[in-house]
Amino acid sequence: MIDSQNKSKPIGVFDSGLGGLTSLRRLRELLPGEDIYYFGDTARVPYGGRSREVIAGYAEDDARFLLSKGVKALLVACNTVCSAAIDVVRRAAKAENVPVFEVVDAPALAAVNATNNRRVFIFGTRATVDSGAYEAAIRRFAEDNGKLVATKAAACSLFVPLVESGYTSPESELVRLAVREYTPAVTDFGADTLILGCTHYPLLSRAIKQALPKNILLIDSGAVAAEHCAASLRTAGLLRDSESGGVTKYFVTDSAEIFSEYAGRYLGTDEALTAEKVVLPQL
Ligand code: DGL
Repeated sequence: MIDSQNKSKPIGVFDSGLGGLTSLRRLRELLPGEDIYYFGDTARVPYGGRSREVIAGYAEDDARFLLSKGVKALLVACNTVCSAAIDVVRRAAKAENVPVFEVVDAPALAAVNATNNRRVFIFGTRATVDSGAYEAAIRRFAEDNGKLVATKAAACSLFVPLVESGYTSPESELVRLAVREYTPAVTDFGADTLILGCTHYPLLSRAIKQALPKNILLIDSGAVAAEHCAASLRTAGLLRDSESGGVTKYFVTDSAEIFSEYAGRYLGTDEALTAEKVVLPQL
């Protein structure tokens, strides 16, 4: 049963670092009346090159932190966690009766619906690509729609370190070089749809677009997942009644100063943003 006390609680969003802010940005636009707690594990980012066991341990810490803050729902704004260890998050959240929203299924469905030539490419971290989670989800949704969709994925290991270091401009030679390392495979495959299967990558979308033919559609996984999360919470009657006044709180595991320096870029704002540094028991 949904009681009003539950409705008034915040929504929790987490990522390995700041990439999930691209998802939070869309959630904030859609739900201006909600309080949202964002947790970025900035001390341990990036997760994408780590083993499943390590990612699972980190994901459990992240989820437990937000659950300890009394969130009413969790949006896991990290493709790496969703692909490699979402079961761990679901288990922790189930114990508290908190629904979990992930970032793979909704963009996979959007890609199946969008592709005209039935060829979808996925950019992701190594862990996401190795998991095959996007391919499996696309196959499932394509079958449901009576379609056959061919997929290919590339692990773009250079992207997260670039973005976390503030290199995102398409004018940057470094960014262009990194982007050109991965984009030829998309055109060679003949895809008309490219999933940005990592919440850091939308920061590079201008540079990626410039390196690809104009007809290729880019799908922002974090934004699409935020739309799905907002719609589901609305349908479940879990949203507050007010349409404004929601507060966002930020929690990070590394320096709050570094967060303030970079966070605005992810959220598309000049506003000064402050975070609370938290110490997880294991760190
Ligand atoms: N932003 C994350 C994702 O969506 C993870 C990046 C990383 O930590 O490697 O996959």
